[in-house]
Amino acid sequence: MKIVVSRLDEFPPGERRIVQAGRRSIGVFRVGDRFYAINNHCPHMGGPLCLGRTKPWVSSAGPGEYAMAEEEALVACPWHGWEYDLETGQSFLGPGEPRARTYTVSVEPRVEEGTVAADQVSAPEPGAKGGRRPGPYVTETYPVHVEDAYVVVETSPHPAAKPGTVGGAS
Ligand code: FES
Repeated sequence: MKIVVSRLDEFPPGERRIVQAGRRSIGVFRVGDRFYAINNHCPHMGGPLCLGRTKPWVSSAGPGEYAMAEEEALVACPWHGWEYDLETGQSFLGPGEPRARTYTVSVEPRVEEGTVAADQVSAPEPGAKGGRRPGPYVTETYPVHVEDAYVVVETSPHPAAKPGTVGGAS
C-alpha cells in the first residue's frame, strides 16, 4: 500500500512527518535531498522513536580526531536513547553501552617501521558502521519516493530500504 506523505515543496530538508498506515505509525524524514521512512515504534520498549532528536554520524580516524557527517541520519529514541540508523533501522549506542571503549595496553617487541604486527589488525565487527558497535534492536524501514511532486511511502516493510531522493526514483 502507498501513502502520500506530503507535497514535495511542503517538506523541506531537516523536517519529518509521521503518518498512520492502519495500526502502524511511520516516521518519514527528509535529510538533505534524501527521504527515509522508519517504524515509529522502538523495538526496545515501544517508545515513540520518530519523536526523538536526529543526529549526525561521528567518525574517528584516530585518538583526538573526529568528524561529524553533514547530514543527520540517526534518530535517538526519546525514552532511553537508543540511536537508530534511518537507512537500515539498526540500533546503536544503547543505555548499557559505554560511550568510550577501553583497551588493554601492553609492551611488545619492536615492530619494523612501516609494518603492522598481525595482532594489531582487527577485523571489523559484523554490522558495525562508522566504527560503532551495532545494538540488538533493528526496526523496520520502508521505501520512500517522489511521485508527481508528492512524497510517497510504501507501507510494506523493507529489510534495507534505499532512501528516496528528490531527483530520482527510490
Ligand atoms: S523504548 Fe526506545 S530506547 Fe527504550
